Amino acid sequence: MKASVETRVQSHYDDIADVYDQRYDHRERGKIYYDHISEAVLGKINTNGHLLDIGCGTGLFLERYLREEKNRTATGIDISFGMIRKARDRYPDLSYVVGNGEFLPFESSSFDSISSLLAFSYLQNPDLTMQDCFRVLVPGGRLAVCTLGRNIFTSGLPALYTIGAKMKIRRVGVGSFAEHYYSAKEMYDLLQMAGFEDIEIFRCSFAHFNLAGPLFMIAKKVESFIEDNIPYLAYNLIAAGKKPE
Ligand SMILES: C[S@@+](CC[C@H](N)C(=O)[O-])C[C@H]1O[C@@H](n2cnc3c(N)ncnc32)[C@H](O)[C@@H]1O
Repeated sequence: MKASVETRVQSHYDDIADVYDQRYDHRERGKIYYDHISEAVLGKINTNGHLLDIGCGTGLFLERYLREEKNRTATGIDISFGMIRKARDRYPDLSYVVGNGEFLPFESSSFDSISSLLAFSYLQNPDLTMQDCFRVLVPGGRLAVCTLGRNIFTSGLPALYTIGAKMKIRRVGVGSFAEHYYSAKEMYDLLQMAGFEDIEIFRCSFAHFNLAGPLFMIAKKVESFIEDNIPYLAYNLIAAGKKPE
């Protein structure tokens, strides 16, 4: 019998937890890429208070949220114990939950903001997740999600990752996880159905960290032009909204 998607995702991230940060934290291009998407998310959540990060992984975004202001606190939830272990190494004093981010084990109105970076594509019940995000936010609370959008570059990825898994390639994200890459309309509808207002959906990032050095630099130079003028070519979607006061 085939394991559930959640079990496969969990065991994949347990397996690669030790090498995950090499991708976005140890290499210059990965850092530049990750800073760029983090800034887009940071710009759309509340500037202070208690943050919930869904699919927090090794805590890369928690680190960026917490380092800017003293009066910020955060909780991370992730399905992978291995990833949470690495996050705990980074920030031992935060609260962490190992669990499926689709069902949030928190009281209503407990968070000022919710973030989720590069994790939403794995969720199998995004509508229920969004409803639960709305529930656990305080009135006036803000949510911002960064997830791969559907476009010419990303549409072939699931097939490629499935083949990679069959060939037993051990790399972050390589596996058969029924990932979903969203259109702007799908994300907008999810937020609207859950009750969010001030909804904004926009594309972010063109300079992919896997590009070779000179190509990456060219992509970085044209990135903001692409995001503003040919957004379809940028491959992440940022979806943001506010719970009414
Ligand atoms: C590509 S990593 C992103 C990690 C982190 N957000 C970051 O930006 O570095 C995807 C993360 O989502 C987590 N994840 C996937 N499905 C999940 C689910 N249903 N509930 C909670 N976490 C999940 C994985 O375990 C993994 O840590």
